[in-house]
Formats: sequence, C-alpha cells, structure tokens
Amino acid sequence: MSYEAQRQKLLTKYPAIQDLERKSKKRIPDVGWHYLQTGTGEEALVNKNRDAFNSISLTPQFCKGEFNPTVETKVLGQTFSVPFGVAPVGLTGLMWPRAEILLAQAAKRNNIPYTLSTLATETPETVGPHVGEMGWFQLYTPREKDLRRTILKRASDSGFKTLVITVDIPLPSRRERTKRAGMSTPPKINPRFIWQAMTHPTWTMRTLSNGLPRLRTVETYSDFKSMMSVGDFVEGQMGGNLTWEMCKEIREEWDGPVVVKGLLHPKDAEKAVEIGMEGIVVSNHGARQFDAAPTPIDVLPDIVSAVKGKTSIMLDSGVRTGLDILRALSLGAEFVLLGRAFLYGVTALGQYGGDHVYEILKGDLINNMAQLGVSSLDELKVK
Ligand SMILES: Cc1cc2nc3c(=O)[nH]c(=O)nc-3n(C[C@H](O)[C@H](O)[C@H](O)COP(=O)(O)O)c2cc1C
Repeated sequence: MSYEAQRQKLLTKYPAIQDLERKSKKRIPDVGWHYLQTGTGEEALVNKNRDAFNSISLTPQFCKGEFNPTVETKVLGQTFSVPFGVAPVGLTGLMWPRAEILLAQAAKRNNIPYTLSTLATETPETVGPHVGEMGWFQLYTPREKDLRRTILKRASDSGFKTLVITVDIPLPSRRERTKRAGMSTPPKINPRFIWQAMTHPTWTMRTLSNGLPRLRTVETYSDFKSMMSVGDFVEGQMGGNLTWEMCKEIREEWDGPVVVKGLLHPKDAEKAVEIGMEGIVVSNHGARQFDAAPTPIDVLPDIVSAVKGKTSIMLDSGVRTGLDILRALSLGAEFVLLGRAFLYGVTALGQYGGDHVYEILKGDLINNMAQLGVSSLDELKVK
C-alpha cells in the first residue's frame, strides 16, 4: 500500500487523538500506560487542563471570501510548518521502544520541533542524526556544573540548537498511580512486569530487540561520585537546586536560543525575560507536579500582558486538538507543545504515529480557522 493510501486509511480509522489514546492503552503494558497517563496526587488537574480549554469560546465571523490558510510559524529564529511541536517526555522507551527516534524522524519530515528529554531512553548522539535542524534539547539541570557542561556539550555536538530548561521540578512529585502500577526509575523486572510483557507481545518483542528501557543519557554518570543507582542519581543530582542565577549562567554558556519551561506566574516570566531567555513555556508539566497549580491557558493572558514582545511565549499541558491550539494562539501564545498526544500516536501506530498526530492536529487547526473566519495566524495575534 502506498504511503498516501495508508495515511488516508489511518485518518478514517483514527480521526482524533482520543482514538489513538484508546488504541494506545491496549498496546502498552500497565506500567507504561499509567506512567504516561498519570497526574500527581488526586489528579484533579488532569481534567482541569482539559476543562479549561473547553471553556474558551471564540466568536466566529463570516462572509470573508476565499479561505487560503497559512499556518507556517516563525519562533526562536526557525520557521516551522505549523505552530506546534513535540514536548520532552522522559522514560519514553517504557511506553514504546525507540519512540524518541520515531518522533524525531516524524518531526523532521513535517518540519516541526522535537524536544529530547534529559531523561529519555535514547541519547542526544543517537537522536541527533534523525532530527537534524528540528531538534531541541531539554535539560534537567544537574547540581554539578561539570556534569551539566558535559551533558550540554553532548547535546550541542549532536546538533541540538535550542535548549529548553525545565524549572518546574523542585522535587520529584508524588504520582501514586504509577507506584500502584509497580513503576520505579529505572524500571525493575518483577512478576507483574513479566505478566504484562507476556500479554503485550508486540511491545515485548520490540523491547527485547532494542534492550530494556534505560536512562541512556545519564546512566553513564551514575557512578560519577559513588555507586549510586541511576534512580538515586536522578533524584540526588537533578532536582531541588535550580536558581535564576544558574539559569542565567546556562543562558550564557549555550550558543543558541534558550527557553525556560514550566512557568505559571507572571513574575517568573518577567524574571526569565530579565535574564535574557528567548522563550518561555507556560506549563503545569501536564498536571504531573502540583495538583493545586492553575492551568496554563487560564494564566496565559496575565503572562502575555507581562512579557508580550519580550520573549517567545509558548504553552503546553492538556492540548489534544487543533482547536485547543487555536484557542491558545487566540489568547496570545505563539507556539504550543504536546506531550501525551504524540506518545499516543507512536504507541498506537508505531512509525506512522508521529505523522498521523501531526495530520490530525494540522487538519483540525485549519478547519477551525475556517470556522472562526481567520485565514492566517497573524489575524489571531493579541493586540
Ligand atoms: C510521560 C511524561 C513524561 C514527561 N517527561 C518530561 C521530561 O522528561 N522533561 C520535561 O521537561 N517534561 C516532561 N514531561 C512534561 C511534558 O514535557 C509536557 O509539559 C506535558 O506532557 C504537556 O502536557 P500534555 O501531555 O497534556 O500535552 C513529561 C510528560 C509526560 C506525560
């Protein structure tokens, strides 16, 4: 079957991200599924993220003549085919083997950014050649300056031009659901895991041929100072220490645009601008850190008032449709990232998943632009 025929078939069978989510649930072992889905605490914020998008109405205007949509977007000095890209997701291989590489390739094909997490299961060296100019690298900042510099050099040498510093993990959060599902970092083999592997043969066969998921970028350093495990290393080395001063130092060390991800307060956005950050991602980490946090879309207008025109304002958390992207852009975001939606794509459809999610979102964005009566993203810009 030709690629085009395959694409049309998939778009008919799985027309929305929710369809991929359902298929994904069947294809991944429980531990990976709960890891992907969970929020923190009682997970109230997971639903709030969705409800907040759905509560935003946009009033359409009609009789505007021929509709010739343009959705190309320039952000951080790069031009992308659409105003959205792939957010960083850690432990990706637990959900689907080589998911990072499949998504990096899809991002390159479709001309959108792919963000590789420090805690991904593939390294900058293995992903870099697949993603080309479309690669962003996400940093969880190590306490040790030398280690930080080593990781950044590896990312830069592998071709990643844009750096994303995630600031919203002062401590690992409590994610009870993943604990109940038997999750640990790194994943441990126990009878439950073995049963899950036996009942998900496609995942298991691919995992066996790729090797068990490991935090391949940082595992090299787990004996850095002592014989601590990779899990201890991540907890001990990668959290609780970040300051604006360190962000500023990293800004000065990195040769390319730097983005701070995980802001919700206008004052933090102002701080990011003050230290010279080219971009910010307004985000509650997909509801995974602080269940009492506000939703990014609710705080976006205040952040836009505070820093519009001084830095590129991006947003993530809870985005599932092209219409959500349109809503975010209408409230002043310049770009949108999606974490789970792209993972649903890859876990449901393997190598076709990234392209398919792109097609769904782009199609839905363009259709809703027509419904709203705008044909270019510039018309949406907050004045
Ligand atoms: C399974 C999973 C793992 C994640 N790992 C990381 C990570 O390693 N680094 C990071 O900055 N954000 C991480 N995030 C947060 C995402 O980058 C993004 O903020 C979030 O997924 C957006 O919400 P959405 O999944 O509803 O699109 C992770 C999110 C998920 C769902």
